[in-house]
Amino acid sequence: MMGSMHIAIGADHGGFALKGQIAHLLREDGHEVLDLGASVFDPDDDYPDFAQQVAQAVAFGQAERGIMLCGSGVGACVVANRIPGVRAAICHDSYSAHQGVEHDRMNLLCLGARIIGSELAFELVRVFINACFSGEERHRRRLQKLQAIEQQYRRTIVKPQGG
Ligand code: RB5
Repeated sequence: MMGSMHIAIGADHGGFALKGQIAHLLREDGHEVLDLGASVFDPDDDYPDFAQQVAQAVAFGQAERGIMLCGSGVGACVVANRIPGVRAAICHDSYSAHQGVEHDRMNLLCLGARIIGSELAFELVRVFINACFSGEERHRRRLQKLQAIEQQYRRTIVKPQGG
């Protein structure tokens, strides 16, 4: 069981209501919650704005883990994984929610608020937060490969000529 953590959370309109419930649950569990919006329900807001904030908080070390909600979890996940150092996944089953941390060092959980109910979401959040990276050699090796891929593309992306 992990101790108290700093957890960044965010959601667009699709995940807004569930975000409030999850933030409440995490605070009740003794965690420090950094709520990065949306701060009001706006049916026209856009998930990239919040997913970037949550992912950045994790990448910059302001939060140890992140939770991002949208309608399906897909948009949130796609955006979050663009920030180097972030390993985000949609987990709507508890095995993935802890195994993703234990093996893959997942540090950002994405949830689809239109797909799962609140009780399952609470369970997934707790399983994710309480899981630890195993540190086993084979998982470290895979993580290093992932980091090497990230580095490779950081180096090779160049500005288009004459653009
Ligand atoms: C918003 O309507 C919806 O498209 C968004 O929350 C999310 O599901 C995207 O993946």
